[in-house]
Amino acid sequence: MSGQELSGLRKWIQAADLKGRHLEVGTAAGGTLCFMMKCFTEESRPQFTVVDTMSYFDDQMNIVKKNLAQNGLDSQLIDFRVMPSVTAFTHAEAAREQFDFILVDASHKIRHVMEDLRWLRLLNTGGIACFHDYAIRFKGVCWPIDRFLRRNPHFSRVGLEDSLLCIRKNAEASQTEVTAFDRVWALLWSPILQLDLSLQKRLKPKQASTTN
Ligand SMILES: C[S@@+](CC[C@H](N)C(=O)[O-])C[C@H]1O[C@@H](n2cnc3c(N)ncnc32)[C@H](O)[C@@H]1O
Repeated sequence: MSGQELSGLRKWIQAADLKGRHLEVGTAAGGTLCFMMKCFTEESRPQFTVVDTMSYFDDQMNIVKKNLAQNGLDSQLIDFRVMPSVTAFTHAEAAREQFDFILVDASHKIRHVMEDLRWLRLLNTGGIACFHDYAIRFKGVCWPIDRFLRRNPHFSRVGLEDSLLCIRKNAEASQTEVTAFDRVWALLWSPILQLDLSLQKRLKPKQASTTN
């Protein structure tokens, strides 16, 4: 994350001062995880849960643990759930888990982001959620979040720092926040956005060579 995003994250986390479980969906090497944990003193730090397939690069889990140790953080205190986000969500929902804070930064594919928005059902009222790469160039991230916010007015925008969006849950939902129809909508857009992305990639070097 950029310096601006990290400053925003610290500002929102510290202003909210939430005591309940904090969740990160997608951790890579755990850099933002360490940063978030260090927003709290040892005594005031809430329980952290991390969901990640840990197959982003070789030896990912050990690299995360090493990173935590280098930051003076005990990896034993973190509840790691090494599985796809969809599976982790199914377990968490069945166990009626609740979170005060959720950071979503996993797959940027539209259908996965729509699935990840289901985690917000488990966010406590007054809790906050952040989404990374909320930027026009990431349609797969922007579109499902914009649709979600239009359809769920009990969530409000707290702020945007660079491409990090923060939203708050102001009330309990009267109905399911992400419907089957929302998921079908995302599935239908998925191949179109995939094509858009590959066209952009193909056009990029050509544009560069014509300007040279
Ligand atoms: C962009 S990186 C996360 C960066 C991290 N939040 C940071 O700020 O340093 C994406 C991470 O999401 C994980 N990921 C991608 N798709 C996932 C899925 N469907 N379920 C769980 N984890 C996933 C990858 O393994 C990777 O570690």
